[in-house]
Amino acid sequence: MARNPFKPTAGANPPLLVGRDVLVEEFLESIEDGPGAPGRITIFTGPRGIGKTVMLNTVAERVQSDHQWLVIDETATTGFVNRLTAASRVLLDPEAATRRRVKAVTLPAQLGGFELSDDPARPIGLREAAGALARRCEENGTGLLVTLDEVHSSSRDELRQFATAVQHLIREDREIAVAFAGLPAAVTELLNDEVTTFLRRAERHVLSDVPLAEASRALAETITANGRRIDPDALAVAARATGGYPFMIQLVGYQVWRKASGDHIDAEAARVGVEAARARLGSLVHETALAELSGVDRAFLSAMAHDDGPSRLQAIAGRLGKGLNYVSVYRARLLEAGMIAAAGRGKVDFAIPFLREYLREHAPE
Ligand SMILES: Nc1ncnc2c1ncn2[C@@H]1O[C@H](COP(=O)(O)OP(=O)(O)OP(=O)(O)O)[C@@H](O)[C@H]1O
Ligand SMILES: [Mg+2]
Repeated sequence: MARNPFKPTAGANPPLLVGRDVLVEEFLESIEDGPGAPGRITIFTGPRGIGKTVMLNTVAERVQSDHQWLVIDETATTGFVNRLTAASRVLLDPEAATRRRVKAVTLPAQLGGFELSDDPARPIGLREAAGALARRCEENGTGLLVTLDEVHSSSRDELRQFATAVQHLIREDREIAVAFAGLPAAVTELLNDEVTTFLRRAERHVLSDVPLAEASRALAETITANGRRIDPDALAVAARATGGYPFMIQLVGYQVWRKASGDHIDAEAARVGVEAARARLGSLVHETALAELSGVDRAFLSAMAHDDGPSRLQAIAGRLGKGLNYVSVYRARLLEAGMIAAAGRGKVDFAIPFLREYLREHAPE
């Protein structure tokens, strides 16, 4: 039996990348344009499951395959600056010259710390290690790309260290590029930080849902390319259920594929598959996102869930029994957290698909 081609897993590359061609091409252009091109520092942001990590994966793969650049992938959890420094040093080792890409490695203490320097009194930091590595790349006609995921999990201090090192390397006209990804609140904070102001000139892309027609085409192509067929009415049901939300494209595709009998996906398989996908979305995305919020944030969202479309702030304030000023504070917080989006004057709407339905089903008594 044919393997299920869909990838409903955080960070897993989808069988077809929907709706992001322009962004990928823009990033590649900045590599061609040379040092100083603004796109060489790019920040991808947007709500959970929108495809930030996948964008980093994609630009990394393309920069590597089309331009033979060296790529270091890191996640901004504690100690990432040290790990990047260590990875740069490992790659500087001539024996590592054949490696084209590393997940920044955690080295044993005697190799990983700053005391690696030949002169223990002068520790080698990220700026020097990455600078030396970029020069090595330049000698070979290429450059160095660092991808940094989950900027929201970093301490401000480490981000500052990293950004400062990058700023120096950019000033020195090194062949270097950095692609960041993180949730909107953390990205806003990073851009507002007075130490890392140069990042305000970076390209910032807020990823959003993709057009339904493109989601539909991707579902159909993936299914047929993997040896099954789907009825037009089944495809319509499946595509509509994705809402154009990238994570849901994979979840729906995966579940609809599973529910098929044999190689034929009919409307019934699509209906049951969509139901299963919605349930999974709740436990994988909504629960996690809600768990990080305060009680008032959640009450705000539950008050929104009474409406079938965008909610008026006035109405939310009324339902919560609070004033407009109070409600505005939480509106700002939830906007930054990527949970809601502005929807015209005095109105907000959910930013994560099916969150409304989830909240209705899981309303506190
Ligand atoms: N452009 C796309 N087309 C189709 N599927 C996609 C696309 N982008 C992401 N996906 C799928 O959506 C899911 C989530 O992607 P990803 O993990 O990159 O999201 P994220 O924004 O990094 O989420 P988080 O905020 O939780 O880190 C994965 O299953 C991935 O395969
Ligand atoms: Mg991610």
